[in-house]
Amino acid sequence: MPIKLYETDFGEYYTGDSKNILKSKIGQKLKGNVQLILTSPPFPLNKKKSYGNLNGNEYKKWFSSLAKTFSDLIKQDGSIVIELGNSWEPKHPVQSLLHLESLLKFVKNPRANLRLCQEFICYNPSRLPSPAQWVTVNRIRTVDSFTRLWWMAKNDFPKSDNSKVLRPYSKSMKNLLARKQFNAGKRPSEHKINDKAFLNDNSGSIMHNVIELEQMDEKRDPRLPENIFSISNTSSNDYFSNKCREKGIKIHPARMPIPLALFFIEFLTEPGDIVLDPFAGSNTTGYCAELLGRKWVSMEIMNEYGKQSKIRFDDPKLTQI
Ligand SMILES: C[S@@+](CC[C@H](N)C(=O)[O-])C[C@H]1O[C@@H](n2cnc3c(N)ncnc32)[C@H](O)[C@@H]1O
Repeated sequence: MPIKLYETDFGEYYTGDSKNILKSKIGQKLKGNVQLILTSPPFPLNKKKSYGNLNGNEYKKWFSSLAKTFSDLIKQDGSIVIELGNSWEPKHPVQSLLHLESLLKFVKNPRANLRLCQEFICYNPSRLPSPAQWVTVNRIRTVDSFTRLWWMAKNDFPKSDNSKVLRPYSKSMKNLLARKQFNAGKRPSEHKINDKAFLNDNSGSIMHNVIELEQMDEKRDPRLPENIFSISNTSSNDYFSNKCREKGIKIHPARMPIPLALFFIEFLTEPGDIVLDPFAGSNTTGYCAELLGRKWVSMEIMNEYGKQSKIRFDDPKLTQI
């Protein structure tokens, strides 16, 4: 039986196996009403005990079986965004293909009618060096520092608006707009740029599909959408992490970066829409949805993660909006 652990003005957090919760009355009510499923499921290979096998076929089967359930939950113009990090073969300096195979099997599930709208890469320069053995001990691999997000939908034109997630202009672009002059002509790429191009101030530039959580180069400004950057870019220094530290709570080890969740919610939903996270952990998704005035429903199998996630909703930022 699913248990409602808590609720807020905008959302509800349930504990239990999300597959069972989604089969229950709660899932039935959500069917066809969800605008965005934003989630990072348990990663392949890390959960050998839970999904029990050595070669990962069980994981693939489990993962791809979610496709139909998720597809039924979203609206016709809804989206599914799934974050998966890279996984590595145990004891070998070799990347596993399991996450890629799982994503392919998910999007190609014939019962789900999904397509890949776009792939995103979330680059995190602060990631600890891993896989440690091969990166820091043997020094034969480089730091694995990105996760992959697949944005899928059952329609070629899900609700989306890139003008809501504009990146602040770079310094050189700001100078250019101030000077009102542009170096027109043919580029090495053969693109012809006319002398009026780029001279309109659109309050920011269009986001890229590589999301850089911090600037790669200290001299360069970070290029996350302005509203997102102002939230807090470092996951170890936000309200939730500080409170968990203060209270001696062992914080969820695989939290989604706040700017990432904010980006997808702003890009793919409008205020009042429902955002669902069936593997919610510390409830980054629910917190970001609440900040942006979206309704949210979150599900998590581990009670302790649910309990700690409640702390997020004491954040004074939520009362300032
Ligand atoms: C990668 S974490 C998600 C972290 C989350 N995005 C956050 O920001 O805290 C995956 C979560 O899925 C949970 N989980 C695993 N199997 C589950 C299931 N069958 N039903 C619900 N939650 C599950 C795990 O306990 C874990 O907290």
